[in-house]
Amino acid sequence: MIDPREEAVSEKINSIKHIIPVLSSKGGVGKSLISTGVALSLAKRNLPVGLMDLDFWGASDHIILGVETTDFPEEDKGILPVKVCGLNFMSVAFYTREKPLPMRGSEYTDALLELMAVTRWENVDYLVIDMPPGLGDPFLNLIKFFRKGEFLIVSTPSPLSLVALENTLSVLREQGINIVGVIENMAPEPTIKSLVEKHDVRYLGNIPVYSEIDSWIGDCRRFSESPFVCRIDGIIANITKNTVE
Ligand SMILES: Nc1ncnc2c1ncn2[C@@H]1O[C@H](COP(=O)(O)OP(=O)(O)OP(=O)(O)O)[C@@H](O)[C@H]1O
Ligand SMILES: [Mg+2]
Repeated sequence: MIDPREEAVSEKINSIKHIIPVLSSKGGVGKSLISTGVALSLAKRNLPVGLMDLDFWGASDHIILGVETTDFPEEDKGILPVKVCGLNFMSVAFYTREKPLPMRGSEYTDALLELMAVTRWENVDYLVIDMPPGLGDPFLNLIKFFRKGEFLIVSTPSPLSLVALENTLSVLREQGINIVGVIENMAPEPTIKSLVEKHDVRYLGNIPVYSEIDSWIGDCRRFSESPFVCRIDGIIANITKNTVE
């Protein structure tokens, strides 16, 4: 039997032209900073954009943007995302209030379905999704519910990231998932370009290590104008030119 919430989710996301899940099978590679940066970068171009933080165990995008979890989104026949720096923002942190939330896989699926079923993404053409790390239930849900997603993969040049990267690319390919490309984070220069291209995937660019990065977070405007997001502006130009209309 079809879960009626799945239909509600399809209805809610049907009109979104580009769903961009930001993924890595390894933790701590910069998914949250990059997904928030990508959303702000699209907003800078006056594109109608949403950002959804689905990391129930480590939601961070509200911290990067400087949004208080007590500023609960408005309810009107569903939940309306919060407007911040030109983007529509929704996060599991509004519900978890930064408290730890141990969950089994099936509970994650329930929570994800419920949140997606009630969130009204109106006039949003681009929805960037920040994911918890790994290829477990969150990932499996994602490829089930967001089949039309254009997945953006994050890696670092560390040898410890590379096996995880190759595995992620292989799994996505096997599943017939559309991969926008790979961003190499914390890399002074392109290091993994040929490895990425060996998998027939686009290498979108590298982002250096910025020692001042912590001082740029906590205020969406400051972060949006930071060298980190300006670097993403250039990478986004690549994506929007070729993949996103
Ligand atoms: N380009 C960069 N320069 C300097 N520090 C960075 C850079 N990118 C990420 N970091 C640091 O790496 C850490 C992890 O970043 P982030 O939380 O965005 O990763 P993540 O992949 O979302 O982690 P998780 O898997 O836990 O969700 C942060 O503390 C951040 O300060
Ligand atoms: Mg994260």
